[in-house]
Amino acid sequence: MNKGHELLTSFKARFGTGASVYRAPGRVNLIGEHTDYNDGLVMPAAIGFSCCVGIAARDDRKLILYSENYSEAYEADLDELGARGSGHWADYPLGVAWALLGAGYRLRGANLYIAGDVPLGAGLSSSAAIEVSTGYSLLSVANHAIDRTQLALLCQRAENEFVGARVGIMDQFVSCHGRTGHALLIDCRSLEYRSLRLPRKVSLVICNTMVKHKLQASEYNVRRAQCEEAVRELAKALPGIRSLRDVSLEQLLENRNLLSETLYRRCRHVISENRRVLKVADLFEAGKAEGLREVMAASHESLRDDYEVSCRELDAMVEIAGRQRGVYGARMTGGGFGGCTINFVDVEHAAEFQRRVSAEYESAIGLRPDIYICEASQGAELVETAAENLPGVTR
Ligand code: GLA
Repeated sequence: MNKGHELLTSFKARFGTGASVYRAPGRVNLIGEHTDYNDGLVMPAAIGFSCCVGIAARDDRKLILYSENYSEAYEADLDELGARGSGHWADYPLGVAWALLGAGYRLRGANLYIAGDVPLGAGLSSSAAIEVSTGYSLLSVANHAIDRTQLALLCQRAENEFVGARVGIMDQFVSCHGRTGHALLIDCRSLEYRSLRLPRKVSLVICNTMVKHKLQASEYNVRRAQCEEAVRELAKALPGIRSLRDVSLEQLLENRNLLSETLYRRCRHVISENRRVLKVADLFEAGKAEGLREVMAASHESLRDDYEVSCRELDAMVEIAGRQRGVYGARMTGGGFGGCTINFVDVEHAAEFQRRVSAEYESAIGLRPDIYICEASQGAELVETAAENLPGVTR
C-alpha cells in the first residue's frame, strides 16, 4: 500500500469520511548556503521524505487537525486564529491558514490528518513540508487554483510571522516547485528558477550527524542581522546596494575598511557562495560530476571558517566522506550547527559509502548516523482523491 492509501484509511478511521491527500517534500540544499535571505542564488532539490495531509471540508469554520507524528488532535476556528503561534506543532498549519486568509483567500473549515516522514530537526525542512502540504490542501478544498510561487511566499510568511522563525524562501520554494531527477537553481531576488538535471551517475547521499546544537536558531538570526548590518555599512561607499547580492568580491575588498573582521568574513562567504552556485550550475548543465569536489570543499570551508556555522560533527562527517571511493563532493547542508551533510556519490559506490561512513563516523564521534540515499523528487502534489466523499464540495 502506498502512503496516500494508508492515509485515506487512517483518515476514515478518525473522521469517518473519505478525503483527498496532498504531499509536499522536504529538501536538501546542494549548494548556496545562507544566500537566500541575501537575495542570492541557491540550488536545492526536493527529496523523497515528505509530509502528507488528508483533508475533507466541513460545513462549519473549524479546522480540526490531527498529527500522526504527535498522536494529538488540535482544534481551531478560522475566524479566531490570532496573529502569533504558541510554540505548538499546530502553529505550522495554523500559520499557513492565517497567511492565506491574510492574502485574501476565502477558506473553508476542514478536517486534516497530517503525517510526515521528514526527519525532525535534521535540517531537511520538515517545516516547509508541513506548511506547503497544508497550504496546498486548504486551497484545493476551497477550490482555489494553486500559484506555487505565491504558496511558497505565504508559507514563508507563516513561518516568519506566525511561527516566529526568520527563514529565507528556499525551503518552501523547492517544496512547491521541485522536479524529479532535477535540482532547482533559484534566484531568491527575482524568484526566477531553472531546473537542472542531476548527472545520472550521481546519487544524493545525505548523512545525518544526529546532533542539533542549541545555537541553531539564535545564531541563524545573528547571521541575518550581521548581513543586514554589513549592507548598511557598505552602502556608505556603495549607495545603490540593497543586499549582498549587489556587492562583488572586488567591491568588498575595496571597502574592507568599512567592516569589522567578522562582518567582512560573513560577506566574503555570501558573495563567494553565489559564485559557487553558478559553477555547479555550469557543471550540471554540461552533465558533469567531476569538478564538484573543489566547489563543495570550498563551500564547506567558507561556512566553517568565514560564516562559522559548522561544528565538530559536521566537519568530521565531511572529512570522512572525502576519504571514500566514488565521492564527487561533500559539504554541510542547511542552516548548520548540526543536522546533515550532502554528498554526491557515484551510484555504484553509494551502498559501500553508506556502510563505511556510518562505521567511521560512529567510531570517531560515538553516535550512529542515519544515512539516506536519495533521489530528487517532485514538489507538492495531489496523491489521492476521493472527491465523491468530500461533504459539501462540488467539482
Ligand atoms: C535554513 C533556512 C533557509 C536557508 C538555510 C541556509 O534552512 O530555512 O531559508 O537560509 O537555512 O542556507
